[in-house]
Amino acid sequence: MFLIIYLLCCSLNNVSAYLSERINSQLPEDGRLNFTGLAAKYGLQTEEFDVITEDNYILKIFHIQGDRTKPILLVPGATESADAYIIRGNTSLSVALAREGYDLWFMNVRGKKYSRRHLNLDPHEDMAYWNFSFHEIGIYDLAANIDFVLNKTSQSQITLIGFSQGNQVWYVLGSMKPEYNGRVKAVIALAPVAFQSHARLPESWSLLNNFLRRTGNEELFPENSSIVTVGKAICSQLIAGANYCLNAFLFPISGYNPNEVEPEFMPVIIGHSPRSVARKVIDHMVQVRNSRRFQLYDYGMAANLKKYGSTMPPEYPLKEITTKVELLVGPNDQQAHIKDVQILKQTLSNSSYHEIDKKLWGHVDFVWGKNMNKHLFPLVLNLLKMYN
Ligand SMILES: *[C@@H]1O[C@H](CO)[C@@H](O)[C@H](O)[C@H]1NC(C)=O
Ligand SMILES: *[C@@H]1O[C@H](CO)[C@@H](O)[C@H](O)[C@H]1NC(C)=O
Ligand SMILES: *[C@@H]1O[C@H](CO)[C@@H](O)[C@H](O)[C@H]1NC(C)=O
Ligand SMILES: *[C@@H]1O[C@H](CO)[C@@H](O)[C@H](O)[C@H]1NC(C)=O
Ligand SMILES: *[C@@H]1O[C@H](CO)[C@@H](O)[C@H](O)[C@H]1NC(C)=O
Ligand SMILES: *[C@@H]1O[C@H](CO)[C@@H](O)[C@H](O)[C@H]1NC(C)=O
Repeated sequence: MFLIIYLLCCSLNNVSAYLSERINSQLPEDGRLNFTGLAAKYGLQTEEFDVITEDNYILKIFHIQGDRTKPILLVPGATESADAYIIRGNTSLSVALAREGYDLWFMNVRGKKYSRRHLNLDPHEDMAYWNFSFHEIGIYDLAANIDFVLNKTSQSQITLIGFSQGNQVWYVLGSMKPEYNGRVKAVIALAPVAFQSHARLPESWSLLNNFLRRTGNEELFPENSSIVTVGKAICSQLIAGANYCLNAFLFPISGYNPNEVEPEFMPVIIGHSPRSVARKVIDHMVQVRNSRRFQLYDYGMAANLKKYGSTMPPEYPLKEITTKVELLVGPNDQQAHIKDVQILKQTLSNSSYHEIDKKLWGHVDFVWGKNMNKHLFPLVLNLLKMYN
């Protein structure tokens, strides 16, 4: 189904600005506001800065000011920007942490709507802009953001909170550039993703991947594309449309949990996610699933031999990670599956494991859940107190 819809939509050009505006205007206010707008609506003031990576991407970082001695960097998942941490409004993690006085910094990785600039490349004109997987997001984007926050706050260490790919990029950085372990006090890993043997990813990926590559579709779900506009048109129709989007797409990917994501919230989600995922990010995830190893990007045997000195890509050396990782796990998570998290736990030398005490707790419930303030935030706040 995903494949058919994608094939029908992705080869079409952007929809007209007129149609796009019309459909956007059907979304509820929280589906239309950006990070700054949402923060203001829920009583928080935002500052923004540019961070330039070693490979010349220009990224936007948002700051909600708190106690400078307690900085936290929040890293979003693969399909979204910093918006993910605020779209639940008054019951979002941003509001809960701001209330406790933490100094909050929100990362937006390369390609997302706030972070589409580069010193030499244009995301619309140059396909080379999209030549990255979660590997580059880890070693360049996350590294640059950590250093930026340390510099701005004059602290020697920060705490990281990462959802899904937002913690996966830490296992990349902390293992490939171990000096970063000294700069991070602890990692709160919401839905921990490294090994992905049990992750529900598109089954027909290699077919779709070849098609996308040949047709130059390196960015999946671009903001103004027909696929996103059709998604907004359908998922914003309360009851029928929203239920369809939940049952046909979101729940199968995340884990079925109608207690945490209700149809009325679907129109807000579709205003923000999924957006702007590089084809190569998905390709790397599928490689990790199929190989059952948490390994570097597979360029093919000949290219691997040149790049890595072996025909198989090496595994990320997780033994290099010394920073404590607090693994927060959902029993019904179909992306960060319990069985995969257990392998991660055994591989990390310094981690502890916490299961959310709700049988149906799934993947997206860690950022979009209706009852996060009851089932998730008390645990997160207790863990943060241990380090701050
Ligand atoms: C999408 O279109 C709107 C106007 O319709 C424009 O303001 C915005 O910059 C476009 N976004 C991207 C990522 O191209
Ligand atoms: C958010 O939206 C407001 C109002 O439309 C705009 O002025 C502001 O520049 C936007 N901020 C970002 C970071 O895109
Ligand atoms: C958010 O909660 C605060 C404090 O409880 C309340 O004053 C405010 O009206 C709420 N904001 C919105 C937009 O619901
Ligand atoms: C993409 O980046 C990789 C690693 O940085 C490089 O080896 C490769 O040649 C690049 N591919 C393209 C098509 O630019
Ligand atoms: C922060 O960065 C500025 C400009 O790059 C540099 O001059 C300064 O020494 C840095 N401060 C700290 C505390 O690292
Ligand atoms: C594990 O993490 C804790 C907290 O970050 C730290 O104090 C401790 O030294 C770490 N242990 C090892 C063996 O690295």
